Amino acid sequence: MNLEQLIVKDIEESKQGESLNLANKPNASRKMYIESYGCQMNFSDSEIVASILKEESFTTTQNISEADLVFVNTCSIREKAEQTIRKRLEFYNSIKKKGNKGMIVGVLGCMAERLKDKLLEEEKLVDIVVGPDAYRDLPNLIKQVDDGRKAVNVILSREETYADINPVRLGGNGVTAFVSITRGCDNMCTFCVVPFTRGRERSRDPKSIITECKQLVSDGYKEVTLLGQNVDSYLWYGGGAKKDFGKSSEKTKKESINFAILLDKVANTYPELRIRFSTSNPQDISKEVIETMIKYDNICKHIHLPVQSGSSKILQLMNRGYNRERYLDLIDNIKENIKDCSISMDIITGFCSETEEDHQNTLSLMDYVKYEFGYMFKYSERPNTPAARLEDDIPEEIKQRRLSEIIDKQMKHSLLRNQEKLGNTYEVLVEGTSKKSDDFLYGRTTYNSVVVFPKENHNIGDFVMVKINECTSATLKGKSI
Ligand code: SAH
Ligand code: F3S
Repeated sequence: MNLEQLIVKDIEESKQGESLNLANKPNASRKMYIESYGCQMNFSDSEIVASILKEESFTTTQNISEADLVFVNTCSIREKAEQTIRKRLEFYNSIKKKGNKGMIVGVLGCMAERLKDKLLEEEKLVDIVVGPDAYRDLPNLIKQVDDGRKAVNVILSREETYADINPVRLGGNGVTAFVSITRGCDNMCTFCVVPFTRGRERSRDPKSIITECKQLVSDGYKEVTLLGQNVDSYLWYGGGAKKDFGKSSEKTKKESINFAILLDKVANTYPELRIRFSTSNPQDISKEVIETMIKYDNICKHIHLPVQSGSSKILQLMNRGYNRERYLDLIDNIKENIKDCSISMDIITGFCSETEEDHQNTLSLMDYVKYEFGYMFKYSERPNTPAARLEDDIPEEIKQRRLSEIIDKQMKHSLLRNQEKLGNTYEVLVEGTSKKSDDFLYGRTTYNSVVVFPKENHNIGDFVMVKINECTSATLKGKSI
């Protein structure tokens, strides 16, 4: 029997014959279980959801078999991600049918936005469907379900940033945390569903960002990652839609805060805090951001810079706003100015009309950059995106073969980058105990390399100097000095 079957059995036995009427149960005794899929933003959003429900006295549980509310925070980025989540929904439903009849199942996030009524009506898999901008409405939606109705709110907002909400840190390590600074995306890369599921881009009040960091520091956190779909387009000028910025007064423009200024403020206010950020869109990262990275030791020397393709023709079809040459100039600029800066990427293979020559261009770009690591995907057509109007004409076997070639190359580069570090000593922020042995700790360097080393008398949350003496393509191994 696998774990899922065991949980179902457990519920059948413990709740047999019991018909729960949750409407009569006080919130304080109702437990919420939340599962997150997809990007870091989803994990961060789940912490906002937990905070909103905590205000209503709900508690969280890590154990699905004792949950009264089960939420799944979903991802629509590729078809496979959606399939995984459908399977989870079927599993929750089997729990519901077999014992826990009163359990409320909710779909949050991008799939909620994309599939709306389909999830409620056709598939009858869920009770609540709520999009990423409607989490404040959750207490109401739960009441609707208690009253015997299905509940849905997928309204996207131009203003919502959940700025005033202090996230409940779920299942974290107490050392590193995400802080979201923008929501939505206005970029319209042709393959991407995010602008449709997460709506227009908006920036969060910098005061609330600083307040959240302050809270984290006082709770003992040592590292924050500032999050946005496109962090470099952060722009705060007292609220209001970004598109109106052009019409604002010179004074307002002078007082506005862009990403470089925000980064400077966070780094300067909390010199003990390590700062990361993600994701940088190559078309928007500015000279000022690079200068700010140089200015502060506590800003980590790693940039996630998704390239998607090494072919200018494909980049144009993707509407990425840069071509191969501009991307490579940017890489040169970063490498010249930030010593040993590590760079990672996302690449999509088999986008519409990608020829063998385009693919070779991607491989040669990788050879030039030699990324530290990367996330590589086969193109997956998403309904209603601009690219869905192009023909998804690369056969599956070719997409797969190109993907394998790219992954193989990246493995070699990751190994090479790690080998370059042998014999050097790095400061490692310890995040946890190694999965393989309790006698080892793991953490990351400023370059985002994962380092494993013997525990000795070090603890989670410590900064430890570690000399590297061994490596694989994924991990550095060493000893504290
Ligand atoms: N700006 C975002 C990007 C979100 S999507 C961020 O902050 O991470 C993450 C990655 O998924 C993209 O960079 C892209 O490489 C990949 N991706 C997006 N849409 C895709 C699609 N339709 N098919 C395959 N991969 C996709
Ligand atoms: Fe998607 Fe491009 Fe925005 S990848 S999230 S549309 S920057």
